[in-house]
Amino acid sequence: MCGIVGYIGTKRAYPILIKGLKRLEYRGYDSAGVAMISDSGDLNVYKAKGKVDNLTEYCSDKDVSGCVGIAHTRWATHGEPSARNAHPHYSQSRNLAIIHNGIIENYADIKTKLQAQGVEFKSDTDTEVLVRLVEYIMEKKNLSLLEAVQVALHQVIGAYAIAIVDKRDPRQIIAARKQSPLVVGIGENEFFLGSDASPIIDYTDKVVYLEDGNIAVIRLGAELRVMSILGEEQELKVKTVDINLGQIEKGGYEHFMLKEIFEQPECLKNCMRGRINVEGDHVTLSAMIDYRQQLLNAKRIIIVACGTSWHAGLIGKQLFESLCRIPVEVEYASEFRYRDPVIYPDDVVIAISQSGETADTLAAIELARKAGAFVFGVCNAIGASIPRQTQTGVYIHVGPEIGVASTKAFTGQVTVLSMLALCLANERRTIPGEQYKEMVAELTRIPEKMEEALKTNEQIERLAPIFTYAKNCLYLGRGYNYPLALEGALKLKEISYIHAEGYPAAEMKHGPIALIDSEMPVFVIATRDRLYEKVISNIQEVRARGGRVTALVTEGDTQICKFADHVITLPDTLECFQPLIASIPLQLLAYHIAVCKGKDVDRPRNLAKSVTVE
Ligand code: AGP
Ligand code: GLU
Repeated sequence: MCGIVGYIGTKRAYPILIKGLKRLEYRGYDSAGVAMISDSGDLNVYKAKGKVDNLTEYCSDKDVSGCVGIAHTRWATHGEPSARNAHPHYSQSRNLAIIHNGIIENYADIKTKLQAQGVEFKSDTDTEVLVRLVEYIMEKKNLSLLEAVQVALHQVIGAYAIAIVDKRDPRQIIAARKQSPLVVGIGENEFFLGSDASPIIDYTDKVVYLEDGNIAVIRLGAELRVMSILGEEQELKVKTVDINLGQIEKGGYEHFMLKEIFEQPECLKNCMRGRINVEGDHVTLSAMIDYRQQLLNAKRIIIVACGTSWHAGLIGKQLFESLCRIPVEVEYASEFRYRDPVIYPDDVVIAISQSGETADTLAAIELARKAGAFVFGVCNAIGASIPRQTQTGVYIHVGPEIGVASTKAFTGQVTVLSMLALCLANERRTIPGEQYKEMVAELTRIPEKMEEALKTNEQIERLAPIFTYAKNCLYLGRGYNYPLALEGALKLKEISYIHAEGYPAAEMKHGPIALIDSEMPVFVIATRDRLYEKVISNIQEVRARGGRVTALVTEGDTQICKFADHVITLPDTLECFQPLIASIPLQLLAYHIAVCKGKDVDRPRNLAKSVTVE
């Protein structure tokens, strides 16, 4: 959660830190703060509740001089969002300041012990405990900052990415990570820190992704040093990043979410590029070549993920079961990790994550690896923790997703799962060669069909105001469209704060049908497939109870328009790829309803883009 930025060099730190915070604001934004060692050697900490703009306003009459600093946008776990609890936190002497992403689980114990020694606290956070512990150790044992951080991190249980500065040594930042991401950028006589590479790429493309349990000693005029908590020097693995700035700017759209919805045809082309041949009838995934046996021998697939990625997993289940005849279980990573699940060495565990940093998914991966399963990652963020901790995997390559509500990552995930299922089905001969080729060819046509589906934007923008009054909405779908109903409901909840539920259309009669009245908008995904006639009956059941139906139908449909209140027409495709097309109007619906309600679409309340705490 939260965003970390750091700078040390010869330029003014403040503008670099603020710009970096704005890039990372999507990760958490209940408060923000900076700590800089000023030209006159003071350690100035400025903090404000709310967004980064509140911080810059607060700083407008403050001394923001200095060439070294650390900055943070917070997503509170311990202590309410407030300026007092915002990071950075000072040590007691105010010589040190820390920023932290994660949770110090044993903070209460440490706090009690420190209080008994006379250490005082100014905030309710777990983070402040760490900086006060570091200072206590420095003083008590007469250790350097680096040594004290090493000792303190030994005592700490939990997850962290931290950066600490000491005003008595303005040429150094100490950073460390365990389970929360941290990237160091290496420039000409300057260094940068970021929770991901986005605040760094304006200045350098040379980065080091810190590994779990590593400490970085960032010293001006010296080489970057990376070591373990025990002090063992680690080999420096410098990587070149290739995210471009255009990819993370809004590109003329009002919101990142809208830009990301409209980007999907292009994103899916990128996702398939180099994987589907030019003839458009064969898929090659390098992971499938390198780990062929492990994947082909899978007796069972377990998919672990959270949120939208979990919904993509539910579609994956149907693809693997129907095309490859491999049994699949789809698990919430947060439940799986604590459930003592049965995992066999011949299971393939597929972890799906846009950010590649979701703490629950990472923990599920660790569990699966310990049980000897083969772990395969489906991830978007290049170089994130999940691709580094899985044996192999496939990037979805849809570019940075900034809107908190996931859109293009979802369709990218479904595309990758479709390609993997097709590859496996072809190798296992569970579908005829001709069918395989036709399906691959149809997958290559999806971007074009998505362009068609995007043309519903204006219609949906016109419809959206009708739904702003709603307190509850129901999304119905069957088969491949059931996970999509869940996803449509999640999108609406996340950004418009309207309660919504996704349900398998036929299951409705076992309970939710009681909720239906003329106040309850019902969105039905009724594209033409095996279950079409049955979905029509489900729509009739809703209508009979006064429900208002908006149906997503396939072009040429002449039946549903006779009894649905609104009809949104989509291009036809194979049943299993329908969610790729039908997700577009659902994303647009949530978007326009939220905009009509005046909500902050890209930064909905209480949410964070990257959930690196459990
Ligand atoms: C999606 O709109 C959500 N913001 C959220 O459910 C998200 O999908 C979930 O937190 C998982 O994130 P990940 O894909 O980065 O692991
Ligand atoms: N646990 C810390 C806090 O609540 C850090 C949260 C974050 O990662 O933003 O302040």
